[in-house]
Amino acid sequence: MEDKKGILGKLFGKRNGRGAVKSVNYMSAKEIRRISHENRRITDELERLRNRENVPESEYTTTMKDPENILEIEDLNTYFFTDIGTAKAVDGVTFNVPRGKTVGVVGESGCGKSVTALSIMQLVQRPQGQIVKGELRFNAGAVTLDLAKTPTEKMQKIRGNEISMIFQEPMTSLNPVFKVGMQIDEVIELHNEDMDKAAVKARTLEMIQTVGIANAEGVYDMFPHELSGGMRQRAMIAMALACTPKLIIADEPTTALDVTIQAQIMDLLRQLKEQINSSIMLITHDLGVIAEMADYVVVMYAGRIVEQGTAAEVFHHPAHPYTIGLMASRPSRVRGTKALYSIPGAVPNPIDMPNYCYFRDRCSMAFGACDGPYPPAVSITGTHSVACYRSLTAEEGENDG
Ligand SMILES: Nc1ncnc2c1ncn2[C@@H]1O[C@H](COP(=O)(O)OP(=O)(O)OP(=O)(O)O)[C@@H](O)[C@H]1O
Ligand code: SF4
Ligand SMILES: [Mg+2]
Repeated sequence: MEDKKGILGKLFGKRNGRGAVKSVNYMSAKEIRRISHENRRITDELERLRNRENVPESEYTTTMKDPENILEIEDLNTYFFTDIGTAKAVDGVTFNVPRGKTVGVVGESGCGKSVTALSIMQLVQRPQGQIVKGELRFNAGAVTLDLAKTPTEKMQKIRGNEISMIFQEPMTSLNPVFKVGMQIDEVIELHNEDMDKAAVKARTLEMIQTVGIANAEGVYDMFPHELSGGMRQRAMIAMALACTPKLIIADEPTTALDVTIQAQIMDLLRQLKEQINSSIMLITHDLGVIAEMADYVVVMYAGRIVEQGTAAEVFHHPAHPYTIGLMASRPSRVRGTKALYSIPGAVPNPIDMPNYCYFRDRCSMAFGACDGPYPPAVSITGTHSVACYRSLTAEEGENDG
């Protein structure tokens, strides 16, 4: 049978042969129909592959490059096949989450942070959203799974059990018509079939207490709307951590909360991470939170990683003009009452990306070389890398001398 790569090559090859979308400013109904027809052909084929029964384990098991990592994302490409063209929401993302560490993912709105997280969980909105390329190696102990290819029924056992996701909006996870306790019970039952009802309830109450809710019995019998925003977020965290996952993905976990509660929830996440010895992938706009929580930082821009390194490297020696801009746009006591800096311009349209550095049109440091193709990633240290011609030419200069 033909593999996914071969089929994709053919599907995209054919599409390019007929001329890819050039501009999304104006499109005739005929053009939209043509794209929609082609999208269906591509997504039907990908869905057919995904929905096969009895997929042999060899197709979705692999080996970690470094067993000290819990997750290795390699060349992840997740696209949305829309009627006005293909949005490359995640376009070749590669980074690792080491065991017991926190990796912060930052970038402006629309950079592909959530789509990266949803890809790991296989929660991208299908059929229009599809992982078209890349490996998501997850260290599940005895076996390493490629989450990009793991069949849905296996994935249901991984979600909640081994990897949990905490969303910005607790009501994404909590069902408004069921009591909080019941919902946490359900997660525990699903992943511990041999536990009896009393043991499940005891575990739920323990989790509610662990997340800092004093009146655990009372909250057990409440509906989500009866809780405050901070309490709801705590209840969701209790649900997410009920099965002591190896990896916690927190997508803007505190953006909707006020500052005091934000700090409490972050402290809680940090404590729980230590208690259950898991790793965290923390997505946030808030560089302050990253500075406090993260061991490693990944900076995303327009679906790609522009810089990554240890938190100290990225914070003290930012090398990409975008990271430098993000740092400058942080509120700071030193700045006093001066207006806050903001990077001019906006993220380019993911359907119509330029064929040069995606940041060039906003970059105050651009120079001649930046007219070339998208810059390759350059290693500054063993852990710090950046995709920018400034660093590339600096490195060449060093090598020349
Ligand atoms: N269901 C969808 N259909 C089409 N495009 C989508 C869909 N979901 C996301 N996208 C596109 O994918 C890109 C990345 O979106 P994503 O939600 O990952 O951004 P983000 O970095 O999480 O932003 P934010 O900080 O606002 O949460 C965006 O351009 C978005 O428009
Ligand atoms: S490659 Fe050039 S345009 Fe792009 S970020 Fe670096 S300096 Fe700016
Ligand atoms: Mg998001």
